[in-house]
Order: sequence, then structure tokens, then C-alpha cells
Amino acid sequence: MESLASIVLAAGKGTRMKSGLIKVLHHISGLPMISWPVNAARETGSDPIVLVIGHQANAVRAAFRGYTDIRFAMQEEQLGTGHAVACALDSLAGFRGTILILSGDTPLLRPETLKNLLVFHRKNNAAITVLTALMDDPNGYGRIVRDSSGQVKSIVEQKDADQEEQKICEINSGIYCMDSDFLFGNIKGISNDNTQGEYYLTDLLAIAAGKELTCLALPAADPYEIMGVNDRLQLAEASRIIRRRINRDLMLNGVTIIDPEQTYIEHGVTIGVDSIIHPGCQIGGGTNIGSCCEIEGQVSILGCRIGNDCHIKAASVLEDSVLGEDVAVGPMAHLRPGTVLGNKVKIGNFVETKKIVMGEGSKASHLTYLGDAEIGRNVNIGCGTITCNYDGVNKHRTVIGDEVFIGSDVQLVAPVTVGKNSLVAAGTTVTTDVPPDSLAISRVPQVNKIGWRLKKKT
Ligand code: UD1
Ligand code: CA
Repeated sequence: MESLASIVLAAGKGTRMKSGLIKVLHHISGLPMISWPVNAARETGSDPIVLVIGHQANAVRAAFRGYTDIRFAMQEEQLGTGHAVACALDSLAGFRGTILILSGDTPLLRPETLKNLLVFHRKNNAAITVLTALMDDPNGYGRIVRDSSGQVKSIVEQKDADQEEQKICEINSGIYCMDSDFLFGNIKGISNDNTQGEYYLTDLLAIAAGKELTCLALPAADPYEIMGVNDRLQLAEASRIIRRRINRDLMLNGVTIIDPEQTYIEHGVTIGVDSIIHPGCQIGGGTNIGSCCEIEGQVSILGCRIGNDCHIKAASVLEDSVLGEDVAVGPMAHLRPGTVLGNKVKIGNFVETKKIVMGEGSKASHLTYLGDAEIGRNVNIGCGTITCNYDGVNKHRTVIGDEVFIGSDVQLVAPVTVGKNSLVAAGTTVTTDVPPDSLAISRVPQVNKIGWRLKKKT
């Protein structure tokens, strides 16, 4: 197989985002914008991938920590796209083959499109091939200038284009395929003699055409794919398109999404067949959901593993939690990080959990806080139960054995253990361990003062 490398340009700040954060690190469906073209390059078989960085370089580096196929090239001053690519070439010293050049701000580019570009480029033995698009409104883009026989002659930037050239609707996507020998041999031939005083990468096309090397342009099937994100409007537009793609894939693989326009599922989420997702859900952080689950409206799930046949009711929030099979949660429940629920567990409305393990068949149906607890099987946690896990300095554990019944309005002052098969009566404040098979009850005896109200009124 012929070798393939990529260069992704990402040194610019992205001024039109009006943001403290560099443009390419703004998120789209759970990934920094730049990860989308980087992933497309990787899926096309690119190794290595060189990121040209400048503004907020350390933040970009941090976003790709641990990836062995990524290299970084520093462009201290942004002198133009041609200069940016020149900065990357040291990182590719000794590389021979095909080089893809992409922009960090084109998240909609699909790997299929890059593969087509690559095949076309190699089949025609081209020195350089540019991916183009036919636009109704070509404003702002570089225009593809062809001669009378249709051969590509050059790319003219909007700001350098004359009136005739401005009418050209075939535009430069900023995505190219180049032969490494051609790129290494000609990058120094680019000058900054233009309206913007920048080194334009696009000059390479005129250089290739001038040397009568094969210089091609391939229009993309879908002009949307090359849309660059420059401001927050385009960020929202790109997010919408990626969201549609994610939802479409899930639906074609057997997931029912009631209203795909109002369902926000991030990159990397998996959902099994015959699961139903209601409107307003946000699902991300690499969540895996099994088959035949129902996720009701306005539910937010981040970083969870959910087994088959689970039912997550409306407006619940689930974070970094693991659910077995046939688990019911909500409505309006909050599973905080470290919640592990066994099969057939039921967590009802207004229940909050954090760092707990709950065994098969156990239930906490209403208005409860369970934190730092280990709860056995078939336990019933009554309404209003609180694990008092925090003494103001440290967190303490509550342990509840199998088959325990905790009545309503019970406080468990941790550290404390309730032995298996015990019953804690309603209203009890548990401050010492309860042995197995026992009844724990702590109540102030009730006093009825007969006729008290009548005396009060006279
Ligand atoms: C560029 C193309 C234009 C094309 C358009 C497609 C040139 C001269 N023009 O214009 O023909 O239609 O993309 O979107 O190439 N960058 C650097 N260092 C620099 C300059 C830019 O890393 O010194 C990066 C930017 O961060 C960005 C990308 O290169 O990710 C494109 O740069 P930008 O300034 O947006 O180019 P355009 O003017 O849009
Ligand atoms: Ca741009």
C-alpha cells in the first residue's frame, strides 16, 4: 500500500467566533471541531497526521494527548496557509507518498469523500488535486480558474479576483491531495505578493499548471461537506448536520428516535436495537445503551453503561453510572457518578444517588438521598430516607444487607451497617449498627393530650 500522511491546519485563532477559546477547540457533538477532520484523515489511512498549531497550542496538544499517530508543528506567526504547510514539512522529513492537506475548521468532511479524492488523485498520477464544490453563493472562497479546455490553471482568492473571476461558482474547499515530491519541491516557490500579503497555499496549483504537471480539481458530491465553520452560526449549522448523521445511522440500525431534530446524541454513543429515544434527550460521553430500552423525554445521560430493557423516565439525569438489565429510573431522578445498579433495580422520582452499589431487585421509589452506600439485594428503601454520609469533614459509608426493609423517613448516620433481613421502622435515626434479622426503632413516644385544642380556644 502507498503511504499516506495528512497535514491539518489549525494555527489561526478564529477571530469571528468572538471567543476566548480557539475556534478548532469548540465542541461539535462531543468532540473538539478539529477532531472531525483528524478522524476523517485517520479513517482514510493517514499516518502520521501533522497538526499545524499556533494560537493556544498547548490546549490543542492537550486535546490529542496519547495519540501516537499525531505530530505537532508550530507556526509561531500566521503568515498564510502556504507558510503553515511549510512549517509542517520538517515533521514529515523523509516521508514519500501522498499528502492530504485539510483545515481544522471543516468538521463535515466525510472519510468517504477523502477516499474518493485519494483514489482520483492516484489513478490520474496527479501532482496536486484540489477538492472543490459548486456553490450558488461562492462569496468568500477562492475560485477555481480553468482554461478553455477545462484544465485547472490556478486558484484566485476572493480578495484578488477580478469581476469575471468573482462570477466563478466552483470554489476551493481548502482540501488537497499532493504528491510528496511535488510538495517538498515547490513549497518554497510560493510568494506573498498578493492583496493580503500572505503566503497562499493555493499558489501551488498555478505552479503545477505552469510546469505542465497534472493538476486536477474534483467537485465534492455534497457541497455542504466542505463548509468551513467561522462563526457561531456556522457552528450551530455544522452541529445540526452532524447530529442528523448520527441519528440517521442509529435509526438505520434499528433505534427509534421519535423526533430526530430534537435529539442530541454525541459521537461515540451506542444504542441497541428496538430502543426508543424520546425528544429532548442528550446522550454523550461514550454512553452505551442496550436493546429494548426506553429513554423518555428531556433525559440527560453522560458516560453511562445501561443494560437491556431499561426504562429511564422523563427529566432524569444520569452521569458515569452503570445499570444492569430491566432497571427503572425516574422520573426526575439523579444518578451521580459511581452509581452501580443491579438487574431489576428501581429508582423512583426525586431520588439522588452517588457512589453506591445496589443489588438486584432493590428499590428506592421516592424522595431519597443515597450516597457512599453498599446496598444488598431485594432491599426496600422507604420514602424520605437519607444516608447522612458527610460529617462536614469526611465522607462515611453505609452498608445495608440483603432483604432489609428501611421504612419511610429514616436517617442512616454513617458509618453504619444494617444487617441482612432487618427492619428499620419509619422515622428512625440509625446511629449504631443494626444486627441481622432485627427491628431497629428510635422514636419519641407519642403523647395525645385529650381536649387540648378545645381548652386553647376558650
Ligand atoms: C482558504 C483558501 C481558500 C478556500 C478556503 C476554504 C488560501 C489562501 N485560501 O481561505 O481558497 O476557499 O480556505 O475554506 O489557502 N491557517 C494556519 N496558518 C495560517 C493561515 C491559516 O494554520 O497562517 C489555518 C487556519 O487556522 C484555518 C485554515 O488554515 O484552519 C484556513 O485558513 P483561513 O485563513 O481560514 O483561509 P481562508 O481565507 O478561509
Ligand atoms: Ca476559513
